[in-house]
Amino acid sequence: MASGKLYEQVASRLAEQIDEGLYRPGDRLPGVRRLARQFGVSISTIVQAQGLLEDDGHLEARPRSGYYVRAQVWPRPEAPAISRPTVRPMPVTGQELVLRLVQAANEPDFIQLGAAVPAPDFLPTRAIQRALAAAARAGGRELATYQFPPGSPELRRQIARRMADAGCRLTPDEIIITSGCQDALILALRAVASPGDVVVIESPSFYGLLQAIDSLGMKALEIPTDPATGISLEALELALEKWPVRACVLTANFSNPLGCVMPVDKKQALVTLLARLDIPLIEDDIYGELGFAGDRPPALRAFDETGGVIYCASFSKSLSPGLRLGWMAPGRWREQIEYLKYVTSLAAPTLSQLAVADFLQHGGYDRHLRQVRGAYARQVAIMTRAVGKYFPDGARVTQPRGGFVLWVELPEKVDALSLCQQALEQRISIAPGPVFSASGKYRNFIRLNCAQPWNDALDRALMIVGRMAATG
Ligand SMILES: Cc1ncc(COP(=O)(O)O)c(C=O)c1O
Repeated sequence: MASGKLYEQVASRLAEQIDEGLYRPGDRLPGVRRLARQFGVSISTIVQAQGLLEDDGHLEARPRSGYYVRAQVWPRPEAPAISRPTVRPMPVTGQELVLRLVQAANEPDFIQLGAAVPAPDFLPTRAIQRALAAAARAGGRELATYQFPPGSPELRRQIARRMADAGCRLTPDEIIITSGCQDALILALRAVASPGDVVVIESPSFYGLLQAIDSLGMKALEIPTDPATGISLEALELALEKWPVRACVLTANFSNPLGCVMPVDKKQALVTLLARLDIPLIEDDIYGELGFAGDRPPALRAFDETGGVIYCASFSKSLSPGLRLGWMAPGRWREQIEYLKYVTSLAAPTLSQLAVADFLQHGGYDRHLRQVRGAYARQVAIMTRAVGKYFPDGARVTQPRGGFVLWVELPEKVDALSLCQQALEQRISIAPGPVFSASGKYRNFIRLNCAQPWNDALDRALMIVGRMAATG
C-alpha cells in the first residue's frame, strides 16, 4: 500500500480496486463493517477513506443506501508521447513570462496552478515556526555570525545521514549547504562549465534550470525524454558524439515537469556512460523524497565511483521554500564550489540552518514526509480526474510517480501562451509549455501545480481552463 495515514492507504487500495474493475460504475461498495473486516481496520478508518474517495470523484454517497462507484468515472487521459525536441545547442529564449508567473504565486486571490510551490497547507509550518523560534532563543552569539561554507556542521551531519536512504555514502565533510537548489545548480554549472559551453538537459526541463543556463551565457542541448522513464540514453549518446558537451543536468527522480523516474539499470548505465566520457553530471534531486509509493529511489550519485556527479537538492518542496536552504554533494569539485559559494553570497542563512538541523533531528521530518507524500498522491489523482472531466478530448496528461505537478498536452490548435494570458485575467495562473524549453517548444502544453487544497474554487478554475482550452 502507499505511504500516508491509514485511511489514505485504504482509500488508495479501494481506488485501485475500482480502477482494476473489481467494482464497476454503478456498483454499491460493501458495507463499512465488511470493508473494515476485509482491510483489518476500524469502521471510522473506512468512513474516512470513503469520504476521500467521494471528494476525488471515485464514489458518490446515496442517502440511506451507502456508497456507489460513480456511474460516470472520468477516464484517466493517456500520457503524452516521448518528447522530440530539436537536438541542437541553443541559447535560451522566452523566459520573460516566468517572473509574472511566479509573482502570481504570491497574490492571495489567485488560484495558483502555475509555479511549483506547495500551498502552506502541505508544509509543516507550525513545526517550522517552533523550530525557528527555538533556534532564535538558543542560537546566542552564533546567530549573529555567518555560517561560512560548507555550512552548519550539525545540519550537514543530519543531511549526510539522510543521504544514505538515497544510496549515497557521504560524510558531513562532503556536503555544502546552499541557499536553495537553484543556488546549488548555478554553483555546480559555474564550477564545471563556462560561458558559451553546451549543457545537456531533459526536454521538457524545469524553467529555473533554463534561466540558470541563460544567465551564465551557456547553451542548452535538449534531449528527447520519456514521460515514464526519463531521458533517452540512445538520443543522449548520439548527441554526445555530435556536440562538445561540457555538462549534463538531469533529474532522475520525479522530474519537473514530467514526474518520471529513471529505472535503476538506466541510472547505472547513464552514470557509467558519462564517467567514461569524463562529462560532469549535475543531479537535481529536489523531489527525491516525495515518491508516492513511499520508497526512496536511489540518486544518480549512488552509482558514482569517480566523483563526477554533483548532487543538488533542497528543503523547498518538503519544508518551506522561504527557508532558502538546500545542499549539494559536490564530488571532486568541492574546493571550487566552496569558494564559489563564498564569493557569490558568503553563506546560507544562519537561522534557517540551525532551525532545520534541529527539525531534522527532533521534529518528525520523516512523519511529515509520509503524510505529505500521501497528500500529494491524492492531489495528483484528483487533478488528473479533473483534467479528464473538463479538458477537451485528446488532452493527455502525465502519470507522475512523485512530486506534485502534472504536464498536460492539449490539442494541437491550443496556444498555451494565450491560454495562460486568458487564465491570468480570470486570476488563475498556469505554467505555459514553451517556458520549459530553450527554444519555445511545447506550444500546446501546460504544467499544473497540484499542491493546492482541493475545494470548489479550484474545481471551478480547472473547469474554466478546460473550457478555454476547448475553444482554443
Ligand atoms: C526541479 C527543481 N529544481 C530546483 C528548484 C529550485 O528550488 P529552490 O527553491 O530550492 O531554489 C525547483 C523549484 O521549483 C525545481 O522544481
